[in-house]
Amino acid sequence: MRTLLIVDDEHSVRISLQAVFDSEYRLLLAENGKTALRLAEEEGPDIVLIDLMMPGMSGLDVIPQLKALDPHVVIVVLSAMNDVESVVKAVRLGAGHYVTKPFDVNEVRLLVQMALKAAEKSVGLSALKTEMTRWYNVDQVVGSSDAWMETLAMVKRAAGSSDTTIMFYGESGTGKELLTRLAHDSSSRSKAPFIPIHCAAIPEALLESELFGHEKGSFTGATELRRGCVEMADHGTLFLDEIGEMPLAMQSKLLRFLQDHQFMRVGGRTIRQADVRVLGATNKDLRKGVEEGWFREDLFYRLNVVPILIPPLRDRKGDVELLVRHFLAHFCKECRAAMKETTPEALALLKDHSWPGNVRELRNLMERIVVLNGDSSALAPEHLPVEVRGGAAPSSVTSPDLSLPTSMDDRVQELETRLIQAALEQSDENLSQAAVLLQTTRRILKYKIDQYNIVA
Ligand SMILES: Nc1ncnc2c1ncn2[C@@H]1O[C@H](COP(=O)(O)OP(=O)(O)OP(=O)(O)O)[C@@H](O)[C@H]1O
Ligand SMILES: [Mg+2]
Repeated sequence: MRTLLIVDDEHSVRISLQAVFDSEYRLLLAENGKTALRLAEEEGPDIVLIDLMMPGMSGLDVIPQLKALDPHVVIVVLSAMNDVESVVKAVRLGAGHYVTKPFDVNEVRLLVQMALKAAEKSVGLSALKTEMTRWYNVDQVVGSSDAWMETLAMVKRAAGSSDTTIMFYGESGTGKELLTRLAHDSSSRSKAPFIPIHCAAIPEALLESELFGHEKGSFTGATELRRGCVEMADHGTLFLDEIGEMPLAMQSKLLRFLQDHQFMRVGGRTIRQADVRVLGATNKDLRKGVEEGWFREDLFYRLNVVPILIPPLRDRKGDVELLVRHFLAHFCKECRAAMKETTPEALALLKDHSWPGNVRELRNLMERIVVLNGDSSALAPEHLPVEVRGGAAPSSVTSPDLSLPTSMDDRVQELETRLIQAALEQSDENLSQAAVLLQTTRRILKYKIDQYNIVA
């Protein structure tokens, strides 16, 4: 029997985890870091479930010492959903897995099983890197930072069990869609279709028919029978993109489908069955959605079986250089441009940038630079936009004409319009990303665009 050490200052958490694992593992319980280290030294646990936020020694203090005692010990951290930074630190320190609190016990059980299985194969980080490079096609998915490698490792592990639902969380442009495709391609369902459905882009009234299809004549405009995404994805993968945007009424219908994989086309009477694996992605905090009432709790637990959090680019700056080289080469080839290198000064600026639009922002920037300056032999600081060079934003946006008298409302509208246009341009007219750049919500942005009649 394997030994599992549970470290959490909250009594209730220790008790609930004890109940989950009691029959399968020899359990050790610690309410603080000090006790945990003593137990680890005396008992040599195989796996440690550890809370990050504890008074006294935090999880982050304990992890390196656990690793020092036994480099092979498997560490799973328990963290708050919004504490991405600590999770990334914990991963750097050697934690291989994490669960966000409050957690679903099944979620934790599954993760512990996966963690141990992975450890059995004794995949150290360096071995992991080699394995990863073989696993994914290097010219498609770029990155070598520990945080990125850990993310990929998790995708790979989860992808292998081909019925397991995976939820990808991450800011706009971090690579959620890319990784869902990778998960599909590396599963046993890869020969069957991968069907994405973009929950935010489809009007609420059409979403049901889009998902489940409709019979001929079921509503005005339904001139012929149409199969929905669920049916098309049979034996394959259904990807629910931006699932955080799905209206509540539709969430109930989706939940019903997920429970028994049965559905009816709109206007139909036959109960149909579809064997699909579901992958979801969102840049929203669905747990908060549950609290705030815009996301169904039962659906959340159905979907959140294996949550994978993709770190923003600013937390894995080690990947910037590879990504720059990758996209530069890609666009140079496409545009037959000469720009093969990056000067060290330009690279330093690129690494320093905070990348609010993540990899997509970097990709778009490289494309723009190659298109505009591709005949230069190297990417230099003067090719970079002001926000990357670290200066102020363009003066046309920040310094409006302040001569009086004037109508304040008109001026505000004018300035907002210009900012929105700039953001839309920079984000390739991607609303979510433009909202990130403007540090506002997609809803507010959409409202203003409609109100001011803005065309990009
Ligand atoms: N690690 C990576 N290597 C290569 N290309 C990447 C990587 N990550 C992201 N990209 C590219 O960046 C772009 C954005 O990625 P993707 O569409 O997967 O992001 P997303 O998280 O789904 O964004 P959104 O939330 O806005 O939909 C795509 O062109 C994708 O191919
Ligand atoms: Mg996406």
